[in-house]
Amino acid sequence: MAPPRRAVRRDASSRLRAPFTVRVLAERLSGKSPFEARYYRESQLTRLANLVAHVDLEPWRSMKVLEVGAGLGHLSDAFAQLGFDVTSTDGRPEHVEAMKARGRKAFVLDLDKAGVDEAGDFDLVLAFGVLYHLAQPEQFLQSCGRCAKVLLLETAVCDAADPVIKWISEPGGWRGKDQALSGQGCRPSPAWVEKTCRDSGFDSVRDISSPVGNWVVGAFDWEPKDTGEWRRDGVNLRKMWVCEQTS
Ligand SMILES: C[S@@+](CC[C@H](N)C(=O)[O-])C[C@H]1O[C@@H](n2cnc3c(N)ncnc32)[C@H](O)[C@@H]1O
Repeated sequence: MAPPRRAVRRDASSRLRAPFTVRVLAERLSGKSPFEARYYRESQLTRLANLVAHVDLEPWRSMKVLEVGAGLGHLSDAFAQLGFDVTSTDGRPEHVEAMKARGRKAFVLDLDKAGVDEAGDFDLVLAFGVLYHLAQPEQFLQSCGRCAKVLLLETAVCDAADPVIKWISEPGGWRGKDQALSGQGCRPSPAWVEKTCRDSGFDSVRDISSPVGNWVVGAFDWEPKDTGEWRRDGVNLRKMWVCEQTS
């Protein structure tokens, strides 16, 4: 007689996750770059919407913008469309070539090897989705503090009350085209990010995380519980800040 089948309890997140993973895999197998997958495009739009819901870009209009860890530079397309002077960088030469092929100013910048202050004169650094892919996140923020008046920062984080960093290994190969160049990533706590930004010279560090930025696998309105986790119910915990040197 066949053994009785065990009831498997599937919570809401696992019911969501399976089709999502299959969809992402199908998009990748069809030859799409990760940055053109539906969830990525969603994340670009929601994060930009969150940014413009909280800041007035107008006073920064004359600033030279450097985008780091740009991927294909879709986020800074919005800045370029608004007339900003934007240069985009990524640690992966193939992404930089793709940006240049669509007429964008771009060059290779591995943030674990060089500071943004070594990259030229820029006033505003756009660093969305890259801090948590770095093995040297502190050096990166310090280098921003040496050159930028404004740092627009968005990253995955861990839910810890203390200023701590969790180190993690990230995938390489075809699965890692948007992941850490060095293979080592991190999940800093919000307290770590804010302290490091302040220590790096940004006297104003404003948390602008809000549900406007949420997308299918990223949440900004998560409840702090000090559990140390960086993913809850299948969704990554994220934060967004506007950091400024006002003096
Ligand atoms: C998750 S994607 C973010 C893309 C885009 N900024 C966004 O938020 O949609 C991370 C990007 O950081 C780049 N990256 C990873 N490690 C890097 C490093 N050490 N220096 C510069 N870029 C890096 C990856 O190649 C990838 O394009």
